[in-house]
Amino acid sequence: MVKEFKNVKTEYLPDTEVTINDKKYLIHGVIDGEDILVETDLKYPKLKEVTKESPERIHDGCIYQNECGGCRFMHINYDYEKKLKQKFLTDLFKPFGLGEIPFTGMENPYNYRNKCQMTYKLSKSKKVVSGLYEEYTHNIVTISNCMLQSEKSNQIIEILNKILTKNKIQPYDEKTRTGIIRHIFIRYGFNSKQIMLVIVTNGEFFPGRNNVIKDLNKENLGITTIVQNYNSRDTSIVLGEKERVIYGPGYIYEYVSDYKFKISPKSFFQVNTKGMEILYSKAIKNSKIKNTDIVIDAYCGVGTISIFASKFAKKVYGVELNKNAIVDARLNAKINNISNIEFIADDATNFMTHLAKNKEKVDVVIMDPPRDGSTKQFINAIGYLKPRKVVYISCDARTLKRDLYIFSDNDYIINSIEGVDMFPKTQHTECIAVLEYDNEIEELEKLVKENKKNNTRKYNENKIKYIPKADVEMMREDKYEASGNKNQKKYRY
Ligand SMILES: C[S@@+](CC[C@H](N)C(=O)[O-])C[C@H]1O[C@@H](n2cnc3c(N)ncnc32)[C@H](O)[C@@H]1O
Repeated sequence: MVKEFKNVKTEYLPDTEVTINDKKYLIHGVIDGEDILVETDLKYPKLKEVTKESPERIHDGCIYQNECGGCRFMHINYDYEKKLKQKFLTDLFKPFGLGEIPFTGMENPYNYRNKCQMTYKLSKSKKVVSGLYEEYTHNIVTISNCMLQSEKSNQIIEILNKILTKNKIQPYDEKTRTGIIRHIFIRYGFNSKQIMLVIVTNGEFFPGRNNVIKDLNKENLGITTIVQNYNSRDTSIVLGEKERVIYGPGYIYEYVSDYKFKISPKSFFQVNTKGMEILYSKAIKNSKIKNTDIVIDAYCGVGTISIFASKFAKKVYGVELNKNAIVDARLNAKINNISNIEFIADDATNFMTHLAKNKEKVDVVIMDPPRDGSTKQFINAIGYLKPRKVVYISCDARTLKRDLYIFSDNDYIINSIEGVDMFPKTQHTECIAVLEYDNEIEELEKLVKENKKNNTRKYNENKIKYIPKADVEMMREDKYEASGNKNQKKYRY
């Protein structure tokens, strides 16, 4: 059964909400203003046909987009996608009074991923094939050419699958938990041209392994290392804990700007190499680090930002929870001959609280937390240490917004927010927010105390002074009105 919906409405994501038999469903893959036919008698009703198309719709996108669901903007031209993303950020951050949020797109929105991951199955014709999970399911959609992955990775996958078929390597079956090959994982160094192939097997047993390596080498694909990772657990997590290097050194190097980075199978490394260079260069430029500055790179991963910042700072401290990433970060500093960085394996909140307790000198904080954002305690500790600048890199604008309110409560001014499209064709974007400690706050605090003694109170046992925001705002407005500079209050919400 199909049902027509005319002139559908979308918000940021190209989804529209429809009502079928009094139940609401989200239909993916549409564009604002289109007329569509929806297949209604499915558990999750789906777009069947677009009967009136938007001029922004493109037809040369990925042929797997309807089943795979990974690239929510695949059917939309890139200029319009950038406009939608920019509008989303502008609307989201409206309370901060910054106007239109600048947004930097990528030169090429395709083939930018340096990391690719595929899951294996046996096709009906008994060939070993790979693909990605269909949205909301564990059905594998066979994909032979993903438009976001590097062309090199696509080429390797095609040849590897023929080699696996020839050598009769059985794909893993989730139901029976039998078979050998579960996933593969490729890291491609766009700049170094080094390639790491990780083959994830159902346990240590990998019959035909030497033949697979021999056949791969014969193809001259440029693979510089192969690692076998064992994962026999009943899980959808790709990598298991144990691994062994079966060809080459077990890691690759990649060059970003003037630096060289070591990447192991489990290291975090931004998936868009060009985008990372743009993002981190912007972050460093905005941090305006001086050569007398103590800089904290919180959630530092393999130390990329610390290394970028070290050239300008007196000393950089990188803190990261993942011990393996810290091992790589230390090595990265060493291979780049950098001696003014110290890497610490710790929870970022613990570390920052510790610094606050010891009243350490911190001038600039650069932070790049995971999607969940940071913690109130971490931000309050920053409020205590009062670094001159905080540069917050975020891969989830919503958690960034939540955290910016806490920064604002800690007397930080939000100077700018901009978007960088690290993940074209998907719903994700990166943001950089630049914050500055508001030096006038202490002066204002005094004024509030004098004028409104009863409204000022001590805030918990830490004795951090607290001023009701409305009072600060009122004082600020009075002050700027007197000086005729009304724009200055734009950052307060
Ligand atoms: C978006 S990545 C940042 C990567 C880093 N900028 C780089 O270039 O490698 C977020 C990092 O935060 C780390 N992380 C997650 N929770 C953490 C915590 N509570 N404390 C410290 N680091 C954490 C993750 O392991 C990950 O490496």
